[in-house]
Amino acid sequence: MLSLVVLISGTGSNLRALLEATREPGYPARVIAVGADRDASGLEHAAEFGIPTFTVPFREYASREQWGSALLAAIGEYAPDLVVLSGLMRLVPDNVVSALSPNLINTHPAYLPEFPGAHGVRDALASGASQTGASIIVVDNGVDTGSIIVQERVPILADDTEESLHERIKPVERRLLVDTVRRIADGLDLSAR
Ligand code: GAR
Repeated sequence: MLSLVVLISGTGSNLRALLEATREPGYPARVIAVGADRDASGLEHAAEFGIPTFTVPFREYASREQWGSALLAAIGEYAPDLVVLSGLMRLVPDNVVSALSPNLINTHPAYLPEFPGAHGVRDALASGASQTGASIIVVDNGVDTGSIIVQERVPILADDTEESLHERIKPVERRLLVDTVRRIADGLDLSAR
């Protein structure tokens, strides 16, 4: 059984999809803790599923590296097999990547390498492109530059707003994330990517 720590910043809809998947008989992974960099409303999903949570507030640390050390200590309490960044809206520092790589994955609401960064949906819409997508990657030291595990296209409609487009991308992300975690549990080698 693959053990997961999931890190979030926001509403945690992708987290919730993972939590629901783990309820299904035969799903080969379990979320053992959920962490956040702020007071994220998505932590409530973990509470509902009886899963412990922790918060390592980014703003309370003098540097990104110090925050990273505290985050690593909190994750280390659970010794997970895999850490999932599921809407964590912070760049994780090198010390975190070094300690966890390659067992650190991220979900991103665009078809990488197109539209990396914190505003992937907004940037895709502003570009005038006719399609964007969703990607699951192994995290490296760059901004959404890690190796792509899986990705899928999502069309951009003429009347899309950032919100409507994001709401169409998220179900794709959820499906890809749940499936990717299953594949990793079943032996997908992240180091070979
Ligand atoms: C997701 O779309 C995720 O890909 C995105 O934040 C959203 C979180 O939604 N992450 C990034 O943009 C990271 N650069 P959720 O809190 O409802 O799961």
